[in-house]
Amino acid sequence: MIERERPLSPERRPEDAVEPGLRPRRLEDYIGQDRVCANLRILIEAAQARVETVDHVLFYGPPGLGKTTLAFILANEMGVKVKTTAGPAVERAGDLAAILTNLGPGDVLFIDEVHRLRRDVEEVLYTAMEDFALDIIVGKGPSARSIRLNLPPFTIVGATTRPAMLTAPLRDRFGAVYRLDFYDAAAMRAIVVRGAEVLGIDVDARGADAIARRSRGTPRVALRLLRRVRDYAQVRAAGVIDAAVADEALAMLEIDDLGLDEIDRRVLALIVEKFAGGPVGLDTIAAALAEEPETIEDVVEPYLLQLAFLERTPRGRVATRGAYAHLGVPYPEPSEARPPAQAPADQQPLFR
Ligand SMILES: Nc1ncnc2c1ncn2[C@@H]1O[C@H](COP(=O)(O)OP(=O)(O)OP(=O)(O)O)[C@@H](O)[C@H]1O
Ligand SMILES: [Mg+2]
Repeated sequence: MIERERPLSPERRPEDAVEPGLRPRRLEDYIGQDRVCANLRILIEAAQARVETVDHVLFYGPPGLGKTTLAFILANEMGVKVKTTAGPAVERAGDLAAILTNLGPGDVLFIDEVHRLRRDVEEVLYTAMEDFALDIIVGKGPSARSIRLNLPPFTIVGATTRPAMLTAPLRDRFGAVYRLDFYDAAAMRAIVVRGAEVLGIDVDARGADAIARRSRGTPRVALRLLRRVRDYAQVRAAGVIDAAVADEALAMLEIDDLGLDEIDRRVLALIVEKFAGGPVGLDTIAAALAEEPETIEDVVEPYLLQLAFLERTPRGRVATRGAYAHLGVPYPEPSEARPPAQAPADQQPLFR
C-alpha cells in the first residue's frame, strides 16, 4: 500500500504526533491561509463583542493543511475548552448525547472526519446544533414520549477532507464554512523555518527553501521532511542543513524537484505509457497499481491536480503536457493520440 512507506503522504502518522510546540496556538502565529484567518478573526471578535458563542464552523480541505490546528486555535482564542471526537468514533446516538451534555457553556466540540458520522448520530446533531437541545424518547410502546433536554450553547467545529460526502442538512447547519488550500511557497518556507526553530534544527535559508519546495504545499509534509533531512544532516553533515544537504537527503528519499515521489510518478507514467495519456478511469488506475481508488483520489491526485499535471474529465483522468514534460516523454500530437475521426483535442469538451 502507498501509505505506510511514503514520506510525502499528507496523512497523519504516529511519528507526526510529537513536539506540541509545533502546532501554533494563536491566530497570530498561524502562517498562511490569510483569507481563512481574516474571516476567523472577524468571527471571533464579533462573537466576543456580543458575548456569544461562536457559530458552528466547518473546515475542509486536503489532509495536513491545518484543520485540526485551526479548531484548537479557535477554542484557544475564545478562551474555551475543546473536546475532540471523530465521525467513526461516535458509534451510537447515545454516545453523542453523552458528549454534548458534558460540554460547558461556550465549549468547542471538535468533530474530525465529520462526514463519517452515522446517520442516526447525525440526526441528533441536527437538533443539537440548531436548538441546543436533545430530544430524548422515554418509555416504550404506546406510552413512549419525547422530552426535550436543553443544553448550554456550544460550538461544533467540524473538519473533513471530503466535503462532498457531507449530507446537505449537516452542511447547512454550519454557519461558517472555510476551505483550506495548499500553501504558497513563501508560507511553506516560513513554516519550515518556524518548525526548525521549535525543533532546534540548524537550517539556512536555502536549505529551508529546498525542503519547502518539495513539501507539496502541505505543512505536515514539510515538518516531516524537515525531520528526515535533520537525520541525514546529523549523520552526514555535522547537523547543519544547507541547500546541498537538503538536496542530497531528499534525493535519497526519491523525492524529485517538484516534490513528487515514486508513487506520483508511477501514477503519471501509467496514464502516459499504458493509456496513451488517458482518459482513464480512477478504478482502472487503482487496479493497475493494486491500490484503493480512495487512496489515489485523496492522497495522490490532489497535488497532481494542483500542479496541473492531471485533469479530471467526465471520462477519466488525463495526463497533461506538463506531466509528459516532467516525465521526459514527448507529448503526442493530437493526430497521433486520437483516432483520426475525432475533432482535435482542443475542440473536445473533455479537455475544457
Ligand atoms: N499554518 C501553519 N503553520 C505552522 N504549522 C502548521 C500550520 N498548519 C498546520 N501546521 C502543522 O501541520 C501539521 C498538520 O496540521 P493539522 O493536523 O492541523 O492538519 P489537518 O488539516 O487537521 O490534517 P488531517 O486532515 O489529516 O486531520 C501539524 O503539525 C501542524 O502543527
Ligand atoms: Mg486533523
